[in-house]
Amino acid sequence: MAGEAEKRIPRMGYGTWARLDSEGVEAMLAALEVGYRHLDTAQSYGTEPMVGEALRRCGLPRQDVFVTTKIDTANFGPGKLLPSLRHSLDQLGVDTVDLTLIHWPSPNGELALPVYLDQLVEAQDAGLTRLIGVSNFTTALLDEAERRLGPGRIATNQIELNPLFKNKKVAVQCQRRDILVTCYLPIAHGRLAGNPVLQSIGARYGATVEQVAIAWELAKGYAAIPTSSRRERIASNFAATKLSLSPDDIAAIDALADGPRSIAPSWGPEWDA
Ligand SMILES: NC(=O)c1ccc[n+]([C@@H]2O[C@H](COP(=O)([O-])OP(=O)(O)OC[C@H]3O[C@@H](n4cnc5c(N)ncnc54)[C@H](OP(=O)(O)O)[C@@H]3O)[C@@H](O)[C@H]2O)c1
Repeated sequence: MAGEAEKRIPRMGYGTWARLDSEGVEAMLAALEVGYRHLDTAQSYGTEPMVGEALRRCGLPRQDVFVTTKIDTANFGPGKLLPSLRHSLDQLGVDTVDLTLIHWPSPNGELALPVYLDQLVEAQDAGLTRLIGVSNFTTALLDEAERRLGPGRIATNQIELNPLFKNKKVAVQCQRRDILVTCYLPIAHGRLAGNPVLQSIGARYGATVEQVAIAWELAKGYAAIPTSSRRERIASNFAATKLSLSPDDIAAIDALADGPRSIAPSWGPEWDA
């Protein structure tokens, strides 16, 4: 079993959705150069080969870069998950990944959770992934997963979360269970501009609204995986790791009204909020 230090998931990660082709590789190399040590990919993004190339070219030892991938729902059927993860490892050019997530619960609940969750555990036991976790899981699904696996097995739940969509019920349940919350869309896909509360906090620190959002997420104890195609934004988003917000600032962001969820496919689970 990995020791606590080994288990640690870097709280700041670089999202790789849409970071395709040679431009994608360059963006990942820029991210590693400015200090990100966690790359978030998925079987469905088509970016595993780019992550692999960035890992080979970055000059960092393999163990210094934490790699997360996610199992596509098409690979949930009996006997499918492990071969699909082996293919991911080939694409990434690594022997093992640091973290593998169930990307979404089975569409429309077609497959029972144990069908795919048990295969993920099998993949971990076979050494294909060091840690396992889930994504887009609701409180009901987390309950079911923990009943199946016992406590301490699920390292993270990657969910949509940012200052304008705080996903509080799931986040609270994760923290109560010691499951790391990883925020996707941490900067609301670039839609934070013009928010007066974030702007006024940012103005006091000389920070962008995106930096304020990421600093808030890290202060809450979450991980964040923003992406950008542009070098200067890749760097400025990472610089949010140096921004320490006051308790009043954090409370002001906590009090912001939630807008709607951005990612809600028709086949998705019954959300908590
Ligand atoms: N588990 C899941 O189901 C799931 C779902 C969605 C995403 N994800 C993961 O989460 C990662 C992040 O999510 P996301 O890419 O959808 O959203 P995001 O990181 O919140 O936003 C990225 C967008 O914001 C823009 N942006 C980046 N930095 C900026 C800045 N400093 N100022 C203004 N705009 C900025 C980018 O445009 P430019 O490129 O032009 O800078 C891009 O369009 C993904 O890459 C993926 O790894 C996971």
